[in-house]
Amino acid sequence: MSRQAARHGAINLAQGFPDFPASDIVKRAACEAILQDDNQYAITWGAKPFRDAIARKYRDWYGLNYDPEREITVCCGATEGMIASLLALTNPGDEVIVFEPFYENYRPDALLCGAESRLVRLHPPDWRFHVDELRRAFSPRTKAIILNSPNNPTGRVFDRGELSVVAGLAREFDCLVITDEIYEHILYDGAAHVPMANMPDMRERTVLVNSMSKTWLVTGWRVGWVLAPAELTDSIRKVHDFLTVGAAAPLQHAGSVAMALPAEYYATLAREYSARRDLLMDALTAAGFGCSRPQGAYYILTDVSAFGFPDDVAFVRQHDGAGRYRGGSGIQFLRGCRARVANYAVLFLQERANATGRGGAVAAVVAQSVGRTAPLARR
Ligand SMILES: Cc1ncc(COP(=O)(O)O)c(C=O)c1O
Repeated sequence: MSRQAARHGAINLAQGFPDFPASDIVKRAACEAILQDDNQYAITWGAKPFRDAIARKYRDWYGLNYDPEREITVCCGATEGMIASLLALTNPGDEVIVFEPFYENYRPDALLCGAESRLVRLHPPDWRFHVDELRRAFSPRTKAIILNSPNNPTGRVFDRGELSVVAGLAREFDCLVITDEIYEHILYDGAAHVPMANMPDMRERTVLVNSMSKTWLVTGWRVGWVLAPAELTDSIRKVHDFLTVGAAAPLQHAGSVAMALPAEYYATLAREYSARRDLLMDALTAAGFGCSRPQGAYYILTDVSAFGFPDDVAFVRQHDGAGRYRGGSGIQFLRGCRARVANYAVLFLQERANATGRGGAVAAVVAQSVGRTAPLARR
């Protein structure tokens, strides 16, 4: 999609990464670590100072205490954290519950483990789940439920009421909750992120996956971590060791520096994303799209039913080969959204659209600089 966007000179909204710079302090720490020859393997489950820094961050932000020696595993991004956890904790034939629309890795991850994914819909326009549908997805074979909040691509930030429903079912069916909290600091309009591990009696059955990618704007560094009780961590570390050995040593050093940035860093991050969200929401709305207002993360799901195509796939295919949609020159910037069609989220929405006779939806990414988004608003 990015190649297509480049070929047609379209504004590319398809890629989920920020196009503005990471903190100089963090970048300098990485350079210094390399120059000081911190260039060999770190301990497979993570350099001690980095694990200590992660433990401090969770204690200070959420009052969550994790033992860096036995409960923290540093890995190559949340991507590895998720697959390593699933490989370690599920067996072929187990079931894993996934909310849809979902970040595209979860289902293939389950597939690679030989586990079956059971999908539970988040319903538009506010992207909540129905408790009865969620309950029906649980069975004696359920090993885990994956919870991504703030959510890609719906922008939902699950509240305590929703978390306690998930927690109650996880306890009742004696299964794990694997949380993907990668957008924990990208929150809008006063939304608050509550880690599942902080819900009553949930620390012992929660596997928390996170990474530096989104909060510190370094998606290319591939540094993430998994927090889990010692017994679970023991298995996760074994899988991690044989999958990747370890995350880049000098970047873990920079990670320790990143974790020590003051609270203002996170406030600024959320404020800047909020401005981008508003700009893009206004541009999409003015162009005739229905938009779900995200509470967190950096995606906007748009309803394209107003444009008269049978579904979202038809909508994004209707371009004239020069980067413009036949549907109208005012909406050519949506060319960049085509990649999301490959995402299950959009397939789900298409399915919904077919069922209801409504148009469908595509997703746009907010993680673009205002400099790039502003011309988009004009187009
Ligand atoms: C929900 C979610 N989880 C995980 C990832 C990937 O994280 P990482 O770069 O740490 O592997 C992404 C990237 O877009 C994401 O949206």
